[in-house]
Amino acid sequence: MPEFVRITEVGLRDGLQNQSHHASTQEKLQLADALIAAGIKQLETVSFVHPKAVPQMADAAEVTAGLPQQAGLDYMALVPNLKGYERALAAGYRHIAVVLSTTDSFNLRNLKMTLAETEAVCREVIARAKNDGVVARAYISGAFSCPYDGKQPVSVVHRLSESMIAAGATDIAISDTIGAGNPQQVKDILTPLVAAHGAEIFSLHLHDTRGTALANTWAGIECGIRHFDASVGGLGGCPFAPGATGNVATEDVVHLLHEAGFETGINLDQLYAAVNIAEAITQQPQGGRYTLWRRSQERRAAAQAAACAPQDARG
Ligand code: COA
Ligand code: ZN
Repeated sequence: MPEFVRITEVGLRDGLQNQSHHASTQEKLQLADALIAAGIKQLETVSFVHPKAVPQMADAAEVTAGLPQQAGLDYMALVPNLKGYERALAAGYRHIAVVLSTTDSFNLRNLKMTLAETEAVCREVIARAKNDGVVARAYISGAFSCPYDGKQPVSVVHRLSESMIAAGATDIAISDTIGAGNPQQVKDILTPLVAAHGAEIFSLHLHDTRGTALANTWAGIECGIRHFDASVGGLGGCPFAPGATGNVATEDVVHLLHEAGFETGINLDQLYAAVNIAEAITQQPQGGRYTLWRRSQERRAAAQAAACAPQDARG
């Protein structure tokens, strides 16, 4: 039996939060439907942040209310503080994610709090979640490099991961928010953490800004990681991290993993159809390398069919 790798689709939140064309609630739900039809089970759907900070997420409660409710689907919401947590709980979430970055600069720009303040708030939210029986993820953002202060020592990522685990988080998403990481860093960060806690509690949240995301994915696989975030079509960026582009494209990760003999439960053909929906919604070209390759194949097939047609007609 092929080994299973879990994919968390983050396009609806991490992807759509950074689009100049704001997707409507209906468009978000259309994309969610297409992703679920492709076999995706775990989705980060919205964030409950201040609507002035991220207007694209202002309809978080409405989106949530419209999501399909099928057994086996796991929806997660990002919350920056206790107020966000309360809003997520009221909307019905049983899975939340807190976020803390490795530096004061990044936390201040993102959440208007220092690192120490953010860490305390995250611990408080996680404790509340634990008490309420809500699953808590912690994003360690800028783990490979901070958009303002550059590379941070690996020890910072280790300390923050330990702090979130001690608080009760059951999923630590090591996040390359600005796509600056390399496979050696993946190993330097994850090897000691996996040795101490096992691989199950860790996931990798990679962006492909500099084209290193698939190499980093594979380094994660070699460290024993079996849980990756990705966004359909590579949708995204971060409004508080200058220069950040999208997450690694879900179709690229799924293609890589399937080719390497892993199972994801995701149908690549249907995922490819979802990329086209993401493109229509954002009114921007979208698509990972796999999508570009599929489209080139289609163009070639169409050109061949057109070249053959007159001959066929002549008999
Ligand atoms: N959702 C909605 N409103 C919120 C909120 C939340 N999660 N947290 C605070 N507020 C409201 C408060 O109720 C208060 O409202 P009032 O003025 O009507 O009383 C107002 O915002 C100010 O509260 P304060 O605690 O001072 O917030 P802030 O101005 O310091 O902003 C955040 C802090 C975290 C809410 C804001 O920076 C934010 O939403 N950041 C999210 C950034 C993001 O999404 N980044 C990408 C994902 S990592
Ligand atoms: Zn991200």
